[in-house]
Amino acid sequence: MKVLVLYTTVDGNTEAVAERISEKVGADVSKIVRVNKIRGYGLINKLRARFEVMFNRRPGIFPFKWDPRDYDLIFIGTPVWYDSYNPVFNTLFEVIKIYDRKIALFSTGETEDQKALDKFSKKLQDSVILGRYHCVEPIWEDEDLETERILTEAADWAQGIADQAEKMIEQEEFERRKTIYKF
Ligand SMILES: Cc1cc2nc3c(=O)[nH]c(=O)nc-3n(C[C@H](O)[C@H](O)[C@H](O)COP(=O)(O)O)c2cc1C
Repeated sequence: MKVLVLYTTVDGNTEAVAERISEKVGADVSKIVRVNKIRGYGLINKLRARFEVMFNRRPGIFPFKWDPRDYDLIFIGTPVWYDSYNPVFNTLFEVIKIYDRKIALFSTGETEDQKALDKFSKKLQDSVILGRYHCVEPIWEDEDLETERILTEAADWAQGIADQAEKMIEQEEFERRKTIYKF
């Protein structure tokens, strides 16, 4: 089974989760990097970010390493931006249609709110969504132990998803052979 972790990050929280997931399940990793970075969160930049989310803007992104359509299972991760996913995914979804894949979604945010994952799920409804995981800013926990606990929890969640996807693929292959060889 081919597994990809596709994510974006600004300050490193989502990246920490993405890295842990990829290590645990042995996945390739594609990071989506925007061309015009938003540097710092002064008033102007906050307004710019909010505008991009509100109006579904598609900021330019650099080409990324792996094409998600080549994978059986794709973990997709985003920082929460104004109750939504990061606008770089508007650009990605415009360029690449992701459908008929097994998908698992993750996000990191300031709060426990999962609205961004709801929107993500809607956007990816032509695929099978096997699960969702959200956590609060893991790398900014005061205690390293707490950071570690969150990242371990994320990795265990991802392993459960990968096991489930593997079983589904085996079953699909079995059904396919049954149809072809009529047993
Ligand atoms: C422009 C902007 C908007 C944000 N909006 C929200 C929000 O609506 N809800 C929330 O819980 N966190 C929000 N956050 C906090 C981030 O989601 C959180 O810090 C996240 O872990 C950042 O991920 P990253 O370090 O991978 O960039 C926002 C952060 C930024 C920069």
